[in-house]
Amino acid sequence: MIVPLPRERCADAVALWHAAGLTRPWNDPDADLRRALDGPSSTVLATISGEHLVGTVMVGHDGHRGWLYYLAVADDHRRRGVGRALVGAAEEWLAAHVPKVQLMVRDDNAAAAGFYERLGYARQDTVVLGRRLDGR
Ligand SMILES: CC(C)(COP(=O)(O)OP(=O)(O)OC[C@H]1O[C@@H](n2cnc3c(N)ncnc32)[C@H](O)[C@@H]1OP(=O)(O)O)[C@@H](O)C(=O)NCCC(=O)NCCS
Repeated sequence: MIVPLPRERCADAVALWHAAGLTRPWNDPDADLRRALDGPSSTVLATISGEHLVGTVMVGHDGHRGWLYYLAVADDHRRRGVGRALVGAAEEWLAAHVPKVQLMVRDDNAAAAGFYERLGYARQDTVVLGRRLDGR
């Protein structure tokens, strides 16, 4: 079952992101999660099986494109279509707002790139530039 992440599951989601290798010391996943749940243009979708949080995806749009973040499936539930279903639900959520979706995959995450390519995502001829605004 894919639902908006219930607030009482926030700690479970952050634990899943740590376990899935998605967190970095310079980011604050709790704050990322709060912003996504509180903002008008974003949410976090979750797959819940019984008592267990099995997967998540953060989804949001900037008025032009949609973005996916924090896609994670618990280790013991992978390769059963959970990730594909989460991306499908995120795309459906976005399609009501914007015509395009994209995401960033870290250079060292060939597995995630392989997963997204299976789902029909293609590499874009674009260099992503960024800088921090919080002085960290
Ligand atoms: C990437 C991830 C979300 C995939 O979830 P999953 O539930 O195992 O994926 P699914 O079972 O829905 O797989 C969907 C398709 O992708 C393929 N696939 C899954 N993992 C793959 C991989 N590592 N490499 C290549 N293809 C892969 C599956 O074979 C399947 O193909 P098919 O439906 O055509 O047979 C999961 O491995 C994960 O949580 N990884 C760690 C976190 C991460 O890297 N997130 C992405 C950050 S950008």
